Amino acid sequence: MLLATVLSADAQDYANPDRSRPSRTGEPNMIPHTQSSANKKTAMVKDRQPAVAAKAKDATTLLRADHKLVDGLFAEYKKARSPAKKRQLVDQICKELTVHAQIEEEIFYPAVKAALKDTALIPEAIVEHATLKDLIAQVEGVEPGGELFDAKIMVLSEYVKHHVKEEHAEMFPKAKATKLDMKALGAKMAERKAELTADHEA
Ligand SMILES: [Fe+2]
Ligand SMILES: [Fe+2]
Repeated sequence: MLLATVLSADAQDYANPDRSRPSRTGEPNMIPHTQSSANKKTAMVKDRQPAVAAKAKDATTLLRADHKLVDGLFAEYKKARSPAKKRQLVDQICKELTVHAQIEEEIFYPAVKAALKDTALIPEAIVEHATLKDLIAQVEGVEPGGELFDAKIMVLSEYVKHHVKEEHAEMFPKAKATKLDMKALGAKMAERKAELTADHEA
């Protein structure tokens, strides 16, 4: 977690003081589980499949698609030259990452944690999300300009790559080896993602 600590500390020096910032209490930035879907039971097993799950992507396919989308947006950012194009891409990257982190924290991570009886993998992922949110808070709503802004986007991109690599290599294979119903979980996440995306666009 050295990388996370360094990123967090360095990045704060350049933070816009007017922006609201994530908690500095040392607690990971867990999303409060007060939203409508968040209170529903998250541990889904294969013999309790809602009808809606039949057409849904399974959970890891949905998450992998999000990862791929964001990777493409970062690649576009690298090529972008105009501040307006950069602003549009950063807005989209921040929205996608925020919604993605929230559906993982509300639905996927708790289900996987319970199924694996995990005490390390998921807590580490949550701490990494907190660092990602910290970086997002420094660029979201800020006008692109200068080397520091580009540097923050590059660091965000590298950190996302690192986090995604761990999810793909370790968390997803372990989750798929459990009795969790990935289709039902995917359906629940797709539903929540649609709600959160609509909130962001409102
Ligand atoms: Fe994640
Ligand atoms: Fe993810």
